Amino acid sequence: MSNTTGPNRRVLSGMRPTGPLHLGHLHGALNNWLRLQYEYECFFFVADWHALTTHYEDPSGIGPSVRQMLVEWLAVGINPAAATVFVQSDVPEHAELHLLLSMITPLGWLERVPTYKDQQEKLKERDLSTYGFLGYPLLQSADILIYRAGHVPVGEDQVAHVEITREIARRFNHLYGREADFEQRAERAVRHLGGKQSKLYLEFRRSYQERGDETALESGRALVENHPRLTLADRERLLGYLEGIGRTILVEPDALLTPTPRVPGLDGQKMSKSYGNTIGLAEDPEAVEKKLRTMQTDPARVRRTDPGDPGKCPVWQFHRMYSDERTQAWVQEGCRSAGIGCVECKQPVIDAVQAELKPIREKIDEYNASPDTVDIILAEGRERARDAARETMEEVRESMGLEYR
Ligand code: TRP
Ligand code: SF4
Repeated sequence: MSNTTGPNRRVLSGMRPTGPLHLGHLHGALNNWLRLQYEYECFFFVADWHALTTHYEDPSGIGPSVRQMLVEWLAVGINPAAATVFVQSDVPEHAELHLLLSMITPLGWLERVPTYKDQQEKLKERDLSTYGFLGYPLLQSADILIYRAGHVPVGEDQVAHVEITREIARRFNHLYGREADFEQRAERAVRHLGGKQSKLYLEFRRSYQERGDETALESGRALVENHPRLTLADRERLLGYLEGIGRTILVEPDALLTPTPRVPGLDGQKMSKSYGNTIGLAEDPEAVEKKLRTMQTDPARVRRTDPGDPGKCPVWQFHRMYSDERTQAWVQEGCRSAGIGCVECKQPVIDAVQAELKPIREKIDEYNASPDTVDIILAEGRERARDAARETMEEVRESMGLEYR
């Protein structure tokens, strides 16, 4: 089911620990997460097994990056009191669901995911003709489905992975959501709703099934999801019964496209580790200053007296992100008339970036100085995540008929 406006308030997202975070991550994913954590029930995790799919030959960097990534998330303001923060491999249920889903996943679905061939092409130096790498999107599906997340904030490049997740959920529900005595069980669950609520539910169901009334569908879902005393299995039955399908065991998520300002790198291309044009969140002020001082400008401005065009200059892209209108006007006018020099022009950018990074860097140092705090946050996150994951896995095993021990 689609949850864009529905009652599912759970958000899940992850990042691979493949190196230090930079301004691109901050202005892309992380600022978005910071907002979401106070609006939704958020789960954010470090996808260390996903890192292993591409770095299996030398996994030594993954461990330190896991820790560093967590510290950087906390330093930018991810709040463990608001969001559940954890490490993928701390919740082995992800691997179990991945395995079970692999049984029902047609190979062609995985081979057709665009990132599969793209990444193999791009990372030619690595041998990615492995089973694990082909299964990358399926592991991601397990990550998402195990929390029954309604929303998955991701960048453009990950939309195909959310799409295959929806297909897998649909296939799973189709295969295992049809209990033999579904109707009876659903009717019993309707009675559990209680007199007035039962009546309302049945009215919503009729309006939807007879007239396709989407509002009634949404209201019915809200009624079920907000009901205080339903078992998970009954909730799934009622959601499926509402729509006239079987039990909804796994929830189809929506991609929440991150509205990212394209963060410029030092060379004007998108900021990315693979272009070597980044400014790291943990870099010291001297290194940041040096990188910005020496960054490219409009190549036409050879001498100070040559006029330039901000449209051809990466520094201008930084001004667009960091400077107010007055400063931007000063750049436009000063550059085109050769009224200002490039060193002068860069100063407000340097100041703004340093001001942005200073508190982050301080927090990074604080967390690094108290590893116990980080351990506690991780342990709490792991327990919260496992509770949610275990709940789903029980339903999954039961619906697949695996409760025969
Ligand atoms: N594949 C994602 C990326 O490279 C990381 C990721 C793994 C993820 N599992 C996820 C993102 C689940 C969202 C939801 O960015
Ligand atoms: Fe770029 Fe500013 Fe130099 Fe113009 S004056 S070329 S915008 S750095």
